[in-house]
Amino acid sequence: MKLGTTDGSIVNRHSFFDDEVFAKEAEAVFGLSWIFLAHESEIAAPGDYVTRLMGDNEVIVSRAEDGTVHVMLNSCMHRGVKLCAADMGNTSHFRCGYHGWTYGNDGRLRGVPQAPVLYPEGIDRKSRGLKEARTDIRYGLIFATFNGEIGDLEAEYGAEALWHLQTLVGKAEYEFYGPPVRAVGEFNWKSGAENWTGDGYHGEVTHRTVLGVGLVFDTESIVEDLIDDDVVLTAPDGNASTSQNQVTLPKGSALHNVQLPHSFNQPVFPGYEKHLWPEFLANLTDEQLTVADRRVAVVGTFFPNLGIVEDVLTVGDGVPPVNVMNLRLWRPVSSGETEIWSWLVVPKRASQQWKENAQRAFARSFNLGGMLELDDFHNWNSNAQANQGPVGMSLNNDYTAPAVEPRTDLPWPGSIYDGFLHDVEFRTFYTEWAARMKNAGAEFAEAEASSDEGDPSHE
Ligand code: FES
Ligand SMILES: [Fe+2]
Repeated sequence: MKLGTTDGSIVNRHSFFDDEVFAKEAEAVFGLSWIFLAHESEIAAPGDYVTRLMGDNEVIVSRAEDGTVHVMLNSCMHRGVKLCAADMGNTSHFRCGYHGWTYGNDGRLRGVPQAPVLYPEGIDRKSRGLKEARTDIRYGLIFATFNGEIGDLEAEYGAEALWHLQTLVGKAEYEFYGPPVRAVGEFNWKSGAENWTGDGYHGEVTHRTVLGVGLVFDTESIVEDLIDDDVVLTAPDGNASTSQNQVTLPKGSALHNVQLPHSFNQPVFPGYEKHLWPEFLANLTDEQLTVADRRVAVVGTFFPNLGIVEDVLTVGDGVPPVNVMNLRLWRPVSSGETEIWSWLVVPKRASQQWKENAQRAFARSFNLGGMLELDDFHNWNSNAQANQGPVGMSLNNDYTAPAVEPRTDLPWPGSIYDGFLHDVEFRTFYTEWAARMKNAGAEFAEAEASSDEGDPSHE
């Protein structure tokens, strides 16, 4: 059975609801990817740790006494008992509750009770340290993989993706504000990941009520707020058609930007306190500023399952709008279940009041009880319900809306398309997914003439 076309324009629904496909993804997609796990601010001090999941592998993400970060399988090297039951904490050692083997927070085996009696000839502790993953940290984000064969994070993610990621979480020192919110949705992980590549098409329909009550930004209040901040508006009638664009990147990542169509006498960062702007300017290149400047919303998926959104949202009660950043993982649990791990991300040097405002805006929008989130969950859950039967499963999902002519006038890596009424972002995501799955033996129909000519992610 063919799972779709190699250009990502058709995806058969077995791809979402079939356990065999899911098992293949574990190997071909997640086994060959760097997986996002945590932010450095979650384990700021020596001894801090959090426990996370890499696919089905439980891991401890810990900061050792020397400040280094370690990602280690949460499983005792003696006979496999789980070492750490807590979600987070601070400890110098992890002691197994079964026979007491004890490991340092760097994973080294330190203590073996009764060792001289049990192992009169000595025990090689070096080879019995916790199973450790490779780690790579970018802009405070901790990624890991147990695969020793794949390239480093930049090679696998693509320098283009890191460039765009920096315009989000790398433009200041950020921190995760509170622990992750977690919930299991009754849908396949790709339903969330594909939506976050930039499904602008659903906004006016799915989120009509939310938009109608003014929960999301309104351009007028943002511009007024900027002018209150002594910013001078130099061109109020910019070309509105350039304010929304879709960026597709090699290796399956894509994001959607919304920028104010106005011009100002300086770069502006709507929804952020002005005292933070110099930090943003210092961390971004002139090219990166052309995307971060005037940006009021961005949503993206970094292949396979890291989602990020930054959105200027209203708080209400005369409070200026705040730029809420939400980072999340679509963690596959089974073909029909996905665990969402979701964090509010704030600039470390924002005022406490601003952080609390961001938390309020987050609570009613992208947090798991937020209106935007509930709207989306309904679609994804009902999508799964409607296709459990063999007839629904046999049908295809359609991602065929043609691309518009890519823009060539912006210095951003990737391919840039104005607007959002096209399916390029989905084809980018599913082209990479199909290539990985094909390598693992899944069948796909060859694409006919590509509708995305000129898009490097489709070469
Ligand atoms: S299983 Fe951990 S000490 Fe024996
Ligand atoms: Fe949505």
